[in-house]
Order: sequence, then C-alpha cells, then structure tokens
Amino acid sequence: MVRLVLPSTKYRKSFLEAVKEFKKENNWYVLSVNMPIDEVAKNFLAYVRRVRNLSKGIGLVKGYVPETVYWLTDGKKFIGRASIRHRLTKHLRLIGGHIGYEVRPTERKKGYGKKILELALPKARKLGIKKVLVTCDETNTASRKIIEYCGGVFEDARSQGKGKPKKLRFWITN
Ligand SMILES: CC(C)(COP(=O)(O)OP(=O)(O)OC[C@H]1O[C@@H](n2cnc3c(N)ncnc32)[C@H](O)[C@@H]1OP(=O)(O)O)[C@@H](O)C(=O)NCCC(=O)NCCS
Repeated sequence: MVRLVLPSTKYRKSFLEAVKEFKKENNWYVLSVNMPIDEVAKNFLAYVRRVRNLSKGIGLVKGYVPETVYWLTDGKKFIGRASIRHRLTKHLRLIGGHIGYEVRPTERKKGYGKKILELALPKARKLGIKKVLVTCDETNTASRKIIEYCGGVFEDARSQGKGKPKKLRFWITN
C-alpha cells in the first residue's frame, strides 16, 4: 500500500538506491539536508533524525522555516519525497511555495506525482495551512498537471532571472 510516512531507517536500502538514481540527474533535494551521501549511508539513523528535526526547527539553514519531510513508500520501497514548509518566507511566497516534491526517476509516469501531492495536502491542513501555494517551472509539464489535478488555481508567472524558466504559482484551497 502506498503511504506518506515520516522518514525512518526501515527504508534505508531503498532510499539509498533512489539517491543513486537522483544523483544521475544531479538532484539532491531528496536528501532534505546538506549531508554527504557516504555519511548518510554510514549513519542512517543520525541522518533520519536530522531530517525529522527540521519540523521542530532544529538544524535549519539560516533563513529557512520549519518543514516536515514525508516519504512516499510502498512496503519497504521508497518512491518519493514531499516537503511541507510550515509558513512562507518572502522567497517561498515568490518561488518555492509550501510544498515541494519529487518522485525517484525509475518510478515516474506511474501516477505517484499526483499521489504524493494528494496525500501531502491533508498533512498540510493538519499544520494549519488552509491556502497552499504550490509552484513549478513553466517548462515542468508533469508538475503543472499534478498541481492542477490537486485543484491548483493559477495566480501568475514570476521571473526567476535571465535564462531561467518562469515560475508558475498556484493556490490550492485546503
Ligand atoms: C515532476 C514529477 C514529480 C512527476 O512525477 P510523476 O510520478 O512522473 O508524475 P505522474 O505520474 O503523477 O504524472 C502526472 C502527469 O504528468 C505527465 N508526465 C509525467 N512525466 C512527464 C514528462 N516528463 N513530460 C510530460 N508529461 C509528463 C503524466 O503523463 C501525467 O499526465 P496526465 O495527468 O495527463 O495523466 C517527477 O518528474 C520529478 O520528480 N521530477 C523532478 C523533480 C520535480 O520536478 N519536482 C517538482 C518540482 S515543482
């Protein structure tokens, strides 16, 4: 059964395999914290604690707000990650939004992207987020479809600077 769960050592093997897949596309968001991958592998329990502490505001990068990280799993398999930021900063309001997500490359195009945002919304609601800002690059068709599937109402497209795609901003009433 596909579930959105808090990070746990139970998923160590599958998570580390997924990180290797993300590495091929130079995507490190899946780690949630800045920790070298060999250290993550060596001390997975410490890693998991660090990620879970983000929701308590412990170990945040300067200027970041507390965020709760969830993993989309099926049995012991890691499928993807969602990060729910508890409130918006100026930057999040413009670019990042409340919820970020990614699906491991070998599990894409199976509906898990839609699933991950769908399951993240009630978690956000529990955090008191009733109007959820979700954003994506204008070039990210898959993400746009996911946001619209989950009820996202387009607000505007913001510049991210020269040579970069515009950021599309959507609000979901939660
Ligand atoms: C974006 C991402 C989460 C999509 O995950 P996914 O599991 O493939 O998504 P789904 O299977 O639920 O697909 C959602 C829709 O997008 C479509 N889609 C998926 N990948 C696509 C692609 N590469 N190009 C165009 N459409 C795509 C699907 O066909 C589906 O369309 P439908 O609604 O018409 O059926 C995944 O590609 C990813 O993790 N990318 C890297 C990180 C990222 O971009 N995160 C989002 C940040 S805003």
